[in-house]
Amino acid sequence: MIELNNVSKSYERGKRALKNVTLTIRDGEFVFIMGRSGAGKSTLLRLLMKETDPTEGTLVVNDVDLNRLSRRNVPKYRRTIGVVFQDFRLLKHLNVYENVAFAQRVIGKSTAEIRENVPEVLRRVGLSAKYKANVRELSGGEQQRVAIARALVNRPKLLLADEPTGNLDAKTAEDIMRLLEEINESGTTVVVITHSADIVAKMKKRVVILDKGTLRSDEEL
Ligand SMILES: Nc1ncnc2c1ncn2[C@@H]1O[C@H](COP(=O)(O)OP(=O)(O)OP(=O)(O)O)[C@@H](O)[C@H]1O
Ligand SMILES: [Mg+2]
Repeated sequence: MIELNNVSKSYERGKRALKNVTLTIRDGEFVFIMGRSGAGKSTLLRLLMKETDPTEGTLVVNDVDLNRLSRRNVPKYRRTIGVVFQDFRLLKHLNVYENVAFAQRVIGKSTAEIRENVPEVLRRVGLSAKYKANVRELSGGEQQRVAIARALVNRPKLLLADEPTGNLDAKTAEDIMRLLEEINESGTTVVVITHSADIVAKMKKRVVILDKGTLRSDEEL
């Protein structure tokens, strides 16, 4: 569950990026966040990751009050969230398997666990056959699948995606959105920032629209 109560965010020297946003996302929901460039979408995501703090208001994510979360506990909190970006952010010198395994190594998983979990998650995203490929040899859609596998391998309750299909053609974008839908159907809460009205119209999910930092609309399509 994500609960934002009257959240505002002003950056230093900047105008307010978010203004009095109140929003609840229940466990198991799939929600699109839309809005023009500068509307505050990525700011919302950064607040949820506790990469930045609100100027006013409260955020509670999976029973954690982010204003009360100590710096020491931030890494543990972040492990409960998977994140995917437009530019994939893979480790370019490593192969597919190693990119996903890396996320498990940093949280101290044993080699035995990694050998079990990584092939399983690569199967889920449809990349079993490419596990040895260097990520530089993959298409954009395949690279995004690796990024999604990496985000999922530690079994987060929540998956956040910031324009995950921004660099992909329309067909590949739809395939990636369908994959995110499957992930949601298997129990993960999914929040996707997108500019694509076409995709949003096809997917028929809840759509939250931000307009200059304010929540303009919130409806189920
Ligand atoms: N680190 C920062 N310092 C100062 N201002 C910032 C910072 N990050 C974002 N902003 C400002 O906050 C506002 C919201 O930015 P944000 O990145 O959340 O928008 P966005 O909706 O994600 O836009 P886009 O669709 O272009 O990614 C913008 O006016 C932006 O210039
Ligand atoms: Mg953004």
